[in-house]
Amino acid sequence: MSAIKRIGVLTSGGDSPGMNAAIRAIVRTAIYNKIETFGIRRGYQGMIDGDIFQMQTTDVSNIIQRGGTILKTARSEEFQKKEGRKKAYEQLLKHNIDALALIGGDGTFRGAAAFFKEYKIPAIGLPGTIDKDLAGSDFTIGFDTAVNTAVDAIDKIRDTAEAHDRLFLVEVMGRDAGYIALNSGIACGAEDILIPETVTHVQEVLNRIADDENRKKTVHIIVIAEGDDFGGADEMMKIIKEKFPLLDARATILGHIQRGGSPTYADRVLASRLGHAAVNALMEGTSMAMVGIINDRIAFTPFEKVVKQHTKISNDMLEMIRVLSV
Ligand code: F6P
Repeated sequence: MSAIKRIGVLTSGGDSPGMNAAIRAIVRTAIYNKIETFGIRRGYQGMIDGDIFQMQTTDVSNIIQRGGTILKTARSEEFQKKEGRKKAYEQLLKHNIDALALIGGDGTFRGAAAFFKEYKIPAIGLPGTIDKDLAGSDFTIGFDTAVNTAVDAIDKIRDTAEAHDRLFLVEVMGRDAGYIALNSGIACGAEDILIPETVTHVQEVLNRIADDENRKKTVHIIVIAEGDDFGGADEMMKIIKEKFPLLDARATILGHIQRGGSPTYADRVLASRLGHAAVNALMEGTSMAMVGIINDRIAFTPFEKVVKQHTKISNDMLEMIRVLSV
């Protein structure tokens, strides 16, 4: 029998497709093990406000395929203050919640690290972000879906780019990370991919456009991460237009469509495995760590390390882009 009797579950930060599948897995694994589960709405803010309700297995029926999060999400400024965290803890005591499952990104785990220094309630995190910018898991919940959404959009853009012989700049999400740009760009045969992890040399970007122009390669797709060190699609387009005033060029910002939609099978499976593992870990006494999957095996990484680390972008991939776009 587990010492844990009541688990609280929340989603925090930017939503990501597959969060619902993770909630479902947590609720059902807990109930299977005779642990009561409580949904906390709107992340840490709901914890502070006491927006907490008991969940049954039926509350998570028919959600595995849905984007968004049935628990809603928020970024709470109040939780960043000591006083806010105290209020949150008092609400947990009031509801007799003795463990937490937290689904979110780096901000979620930064909040968790501060909270658990002050209040020793067991907690396990699950990586839920489209950005995949967390150490401790090869994939994060929502990343695969977001990349597939971007791929679908860029393929469509290539159709019209081909029809008009146009250059397109496509901005994808990723405030600090270029994984969506890198992977969607490779999958769509982009001519250039600009990401925050590498220095963007504008002159080289312009040279590559000029090369394609010279050899009559009429379509040129540049995928740029919103957090690229140079700036986003709008900034880059200004420079391109200055240099090539006659070039037929357009910019598209994909934006929040990448955060929504039905999760892919990969995100549903990942979320299910992580949700199941999170509850098992809490029952076994593991705490203060994010559960992830590394080399197809469940792995735990302390919250502090998840926050600070960033998986490296492999040089092989970056070199390959140049080769494949000749
Ligand atoms: O962290 C996920 C993310 O989608 C980033 O890629 C993006 O910069 C940010 O969230 C957007 O946040 P918001 O929805 O608050 O504008």
